[in-house]
Amino acid sequence: MQTMDYFEFLDQERALIIKEPRCPQPWINYLSNGRMHAFVSQAGGGFAWWKSATVYRLTRYRQHLAPMDGPGFYIYLREEDGTVWSPSWRPAETELDKWKAIHRPGISSFEATYNGLHAQLDLWVAPDHDALLWELKLSNPSNRSRKLDAFAYVELSQMQWTDEFNWGYYIKYMLRTDYDEATRSVRYLFHHQSHPNISEVPLVYFAGSEVDTWCGSREDFLGSYGSESCPKAISKGNLNNRGISCGEPAAALHRQLCLETGQSHSLRFALGVEPGALLEPERCKQAIDGLLPTLLSKEGFDEQRERCEKWWTTHLEKLSCSLPEPELQRMIETWSPVNTVTTARFSRSVNATAPGIRGIGFRDTCQDMIAIAYRRPDWALDKLRSLLTEQHADGRANHTSYPIEKSPSNESLHSDNHLWLPMLAHAIAVETGDPGFLEETASFYTNKESATIWEHLMRALRFTESHLGSHNIPLTLRSDWNDIIGKFSKAGRGESLFASFQYVYVLRQMLALAQWSGRNDDADTIREWLHKQTTALDACAWDGGWWRRGFDDNGAPVGSRSSPFGKIFLNPQSWAVLARVGSREQQEAGMAAAAEHLLTDAGLKILSPGFKTWPEESNPFSGYGPGTGENGAIFCHANTWTIMAEALLGHADTAWEYFRRLVPENVIHRFGVNTYGADPHAWLSNIVGPENTRFGWGNVVHITGTAAWMDIVATQYLLGIRSELTGLRIDPQIPTHWTGFTVRRQVRGHWIHLKAKRSGHQRLQLNGHIMDPSQSIPWQRLAAENEIVAEM
Ligand code: GLC
Repeated sequence: MQTMDYFEFLDQERALIIKEPRCPQPWINYLSNGRMHAFVSQAGGGFAWWKSATVYRLTRYRQHLAPMDGPGFYIYLREEDGTVWSPSWRPAETELDKWKAIHRPGISSFEATYNGLHAQLDLWVAPDHDALLWELKLSNPSNRSRKLDAFAYVELSQMQWTDEFNWGYYIKYMLRTDYDEATRSVRYLFHHQSHPNISEVPLVYFAGSEVDTWCGSREDFLGSYGSESCPKAISKGNLNNRGISCGEPAAALHRQLCLETGQSHSLRFALGVEPGALLEPERCKQAIDGLLPTLLSKEGFDEQRERCEKWWTTHLEKLSCSLPEPELQRMIETWSPVNTVTTARFSRSVNATAPGIRGIGFRDTCQDMIAIAYRRPDWALDKLRSLLTEQHADGRANHTSYPIEKSPSNESLHSDNHLWLPMLAHAIAVETGDPGFLEETASFYTNKESATIWEHLMRALRFTESHLGSHNIPLTLRSDWNDIIGKFSKAGRGESLFASFQYVYVLRQMLALAQWSGRNDDADTIREWLHKQTTALDACAWDGGWWRRGFDDNGAPVGSRSSPFGKIFLNPQSWAVLARVGSREQQEAGMAAAAEHLLTDAGLKILSPGFKTWPEESNPFSGYGPGTGENGAIFCHANTWTIMAEALLGHADTAWEYFRRLVPENVIHRFGVNTYGADPHAWLSNIVGPENTRFGWGNVVHITGTAAWMDIVATQYLLGIRSELTGLRIDPQIPTHWTGFTVRRQVRGHWIHLKAKRSGHQRLQLNGHIMDPSQSIPWQRLAAENEIVAEM
C-alpha cells in the first residue's frame, strides 16, 4: 500500500485524514480540557483518565499486550440480519464500504458507510465539564428503511493503575456499577481506600441521550471467552440491565432505532466524572443529576463543541505563516503547537505505549513550557511556580515529581535540572516584558524556606558553580540532559561539557535578566562566573576537529577522536554555537563535523559510532543496542538544537533542510509507513539509526521534548521572529530556493505581519521606516498592527 493511501492532511480544516484503519501503530489524538483527558486512535482505541492516568484511570487500555490498541470508545451497530459494524472499524472489524478517521486539534471523528447506511462518531472533551462527549450521527440515504441496534461501550478500570496490576484480584470486590433511570446513566463507584486524596474520588457516569437497555459488567457484555469484536450481548440484540458489586466493570448503553429512507438520527453519550463520591455521595449524585439533562441535550453538545473549537482556534491563531512547502507549514502552524499543548499537559507520561507512571520530568517540563511561553505566558508562569517548589534550597532541583499522585519526588542529583529553570524564566520575561514575577516568593522543596523567584534562579547558578570538577567544568553527577551519560561519572568525578555549554547559555540569559531588572550586583557576579566558565571551556573542550562531550571519572575525554566509540556527539557541536563559545571557525568546524559523521537520511544521530553493549562489554555505556535511544539513534530532540545553531550561523539552507528532513510526513514518504510506523502529525523522540536493522523506526511519539523545541526553533529561529528583553529580533532564514515567506504573529499584544524576501541585500523596514537589521526592534516602536519587511 502506498503512503498516500494511508493519510492526507486537509490544512484549511487543520485535519489529518486517515484512510486506512490498519496503521502500523495506533495514530492517536489527545482530547482534553486540562483535567479530563483521553486519547483515541484512528481505530477507536484509547483510554480516558481524570487528572492522572495512574490515579484516576477511568477506562482500560492494553499498552503492551496483543491485540494492540484496545479497548477504546466503542460503538457497535447491529443490523436486522445480525451483522455488526463499527464507525471506527474497530472493534467489529467488519469491512466497510467507505471509511475514514479524522484527527483535528481536540476532536476526533470517524466516518463510515456500510450497506447504504452512514455513521459518524465525533469525540471530544467538554471544556466546561469533566466529560468525554460522543456524538453518533446516523443517516439513511438508501431507499429502504433500516432497523438497527446501537451500542456504546467502555471497559472501566480500577482507577489506580499500579494497584490494578498488583492487587486487581482483590480490589475487584471494592466497586459497584448500577444505573440511574432518570439520567439514563450507568454509574461506577470504585471505593478502594488508597487514593491519595479520598475526598476527590469521583463517581463515574456513562450516560446516553436515549437508552433502552444497559449493562455494567464486562463479563456479561463480552461473554466468557468473548472478544471485543463480537461480544455475546451484541449478538443477542439487547443488554441485561444488570450492574455488579464485584468483578470486571464496564458500561454499555443500547438503543433500538428505525431509520426511514432519507432520515437521520443522533445519539449522544457522555463519559464523565464528579468528585466527592466517597465523602459527599449525595452532593456528588445531585451534581451529576443536575448536569446531565443539559449536557446531553443537542444544545449542550453544540455549545461544548463550539467552546472546544474556540479554545483551539484562539491558541493556534497566534501564529500563522505562508511557506512554499505545505509539509513544513502545516507542522509549524498546526501540529507543532498542538503537540506542545500535549507535552505541557502530559510531559513524557502517556501515549499508546506509555502508561503515565513516570510523573512530571523537571527538565522536561521546563523545556515544554518554553514553547508554551510565546503563546500563553500565563500558563508557563503557573508551571514555573509549581516547578520552583521542586527546587532545593541549595539550588538543585528534583528530577521528577508527582503533583497529582502526591508520591514523593525523585530527588536524584543531575547536572542540569535546575539549569532549565532560568531558561524558562527568561522565556516568560521576554514574552511579557514584566520583571514583576521575579519578585514573587516561592517555597523550596522542603518547605522550610522560601525566596523570590530571582533568588531561586540565582541558587540554580550557585549550585552549578559549587559543583565544578577538576577542569572547572560542571560535574555530570547522575546525568546531564542525556539520561545515559552518567555512565562516565559513576565515581562522581566525571564532567559534562554539554552542561558547561548549557551553563554558559544560561549565564548569558541571567546576565541579561539581571541588567534588565536592575540587579547590578548579581550582574557582576554572573559576569565573573561567565568569564570563569568560558575560560575553562577554551582550555579543554576542543578536540581538534570538533567539541568534546565531557570527561570521565579518570579525566579522559569523552566524545573524542581518541575514543573507540562515541567519538563525536551531536549536542556539544550545536550548543557551542548556542552558547557563543569558541571562535567562528571552531563553531563552523563542529557543525561540519556533525554533518559529516552523524547525518543520515532521517536526520542526525546523537553520537557515532554507537557503543557496544552486553555481552561484548561487561560494563557498557547503555543497555540500548547501537543505533537505538541515546546510543546512536537519530535523536530528534537533539536535532532541534542543531537546526537552531545552523540558523544562528546564518546557514538557512542547512537549517531548513534539517527541519524538513525530520518532519514526520517527510520521513514517512522517504522510509515508508511501515518502516517508520509512527503518527504523521506528531513529533517523536527518536528514530532508530542505521547501526540497527530497524533503521527508520520512529519511537516515543507525542510525549517528547522534540515537540517544544521544534516549535521554538521553527517559529523563532527559522521564521525568525524572536522576543528579546529589549526588543523584537527579526531574523528570518530564507533558503536559496525560496523567494520568501510571510508570517503573522501576535506578541505582547502587538500583531506582526512579516514579509521575508530574498533580495541579496540585508534590509529591515518597520511600518515603512528603515531599521538597522542587526538590532532588535525596540518594543516601544511597535504599534498594534505592524508591517515588517525583512530582506536578505
Ligand atoms: C528522554 C527524557 C529526557 C532526556 C532525554 C535524553 O526524552 O525524557 O529527560 O533529557 O530522553 O536522554
